[in-house]
Amino acid sequence: MTFWFNSDRERGRIFAEAFARDLPDLPFIMDATQVDPDDISYVLTWTAPPDLDRFKNLEIVFSIGAGVDQFRVENLASGVKLVRMIEDGIVRMMQEYVTLAVLALHRNLKAYLMQQTEGKWQALPARQAADRRIGVLGLGMLGQAVIARLMPFGFPLSGWSRAPRQIDGVRCHHGAESLASFLGETDILVCLLPLTEETRGILDARLFAALPPGASLIHVGRGAQLDHDALIDALDMHQLSGAVIDVTEPEPLPPEHPFWRHPRIMLTPHIASVTQPGTAARSVIENIKRHRAGLDPIGLVDRTRGY
Ligand code: GLV
Repeated sequence: MTFWFNSDRERGRIFAEAFARDLPDLPFIMDATQVDPDDISYVLTWTAPPDLDRFKNLEIVFSIGAGVDQFRVENLASGVKLVRMIEDGIVRMMQEYVTLAVLALHRNLKAYLMQQTEGKWQALPARQAADRRIGVLGLGMLGQAVIARLMPFGFPLSGWSRAPRQIDGVRCHHGAESLASFLGETDILVCLLPLTEETRGILDARLFAALPPGASLIHVGRGAQLDHDALIDALDMHQLSGAVIDVTEPEPLPPEHPFWRHPRIMLTPHIASVTQPGTAARSVIENIKRHRAGLDPIGLVDRTRGY
């Protein structure tokens, strides 16, 4: 039984220390060429290495990221479990980023930054938090954590998910048939959906048209969920008033892409939330202990759902 860390050495050192301390009986390696492939039971990796079939005794593939769309889960042997990264560092960073983005949109930050470059001192109309409805698409671990962080500001909060959810203080909607009513009462839409065949391209012209005029978008899901032309049209026609975009397809965007210079888009290079090795190591170790005790790891991917 061996754990293979298939990523950068810098983070690997932090993982190695945690494994030596908390799982001393499990050999930890960073170079799989040095061991018999049959010894590898666990791998932590960003995506499936092309020769994964060599590892006949593999039990769990741990994703370094919260998303698992970069894996082809159908290509993993049926007995192998795929596990999403759920760890405090990712959760905290996502809470910070979405709070930052909500407040930036709520308080017109982009417009004030532009006014500054023009030497303009002018107050813009302000709305109270109670009059700004926030809607979160995707009510998994991250969606719920973001909502909890936003709660004290006093924004009316709602959420939409595939399956029903109940969260205190949040209007929860579920299923395709309730998407339009959810969108109709959302002034700032936060996309935290996983990328699946159902969510690919979901942020399109139809969805933007279902939002109240002047609504805005925070996109921290996956790039392939967003129709770029539809977003530019919706902004230019003032159906949307602003967007904060952290994920795009492709990444990075080409230099001539309109997102770079659009006056109502704030663009960041997929940094909203990044796996933190110290807390991630704790979560992987915990999951190996659960697996050894016959329990499902936290973040186990449902192969039929795709996340
Ligand atoms: C980053 O996008 C991740 O999946 O953690």
